[in-house]
Amino acid sequence: MSIQNVEIIKLPKIIDDRGNLTFLEESNHIPFAIERVYWIYDVPGGEIRGGHAYHELYEVIIALSGSFDVVVDNGTEKKTYHLNRSYFGLFVPKLIWRQLENFSTNSLCLIAASSKYQESDYIRDYDTFQSLEKV
Ligand code: TYD
Repeated sequence: MSIQNVEIIKLPKIIDDRGNLTFLEESNHIPFAIERVYWIYDVPGGEIRGGHAYHELYEVIIALSGSFDVVVDNGTEKKTYHLNRSYFGLFVPKLIWRQLENFSTNSLCLIAASSKYQESDYIRDYDTFQSLEKV
């Protein structure tokens, strides 16, 4: 997989009559080391999360439960990914504007990220994002 591109990652799914199981390992399934995991939940209907990009951070977004849309934008092209299975992760590299929306009731969004929380890594202004060189 290319570290530059947004991509769906299909995670292992161990099917079992007792309940299915999925996992992710940082060097085997995703192209970065995980320094932080956070999750978004109890999202009221119609709310939007995200709406920013990162200078350096890489992430994988997973709909552990329910569904939502991730709208990604590389500065020239926008694409919407509908996540609704816990064995798919959406890899989002740095310098991609992303927004999470259309959350279903009781959805749970897990994000594995390549660095700790650092406000200085956020690009929260769309015009600033557009003006940056995307390398
Ligand atoms: P933010 O990343 O802006 O949320 P979203 O992109 O989902 O809309 O974060 C919202 C607030 O939470 C912000 O004040 C920073 C804080 N925060 C942390 O303290 N640690 C974290 O790991 C994250 C993701 C956010």
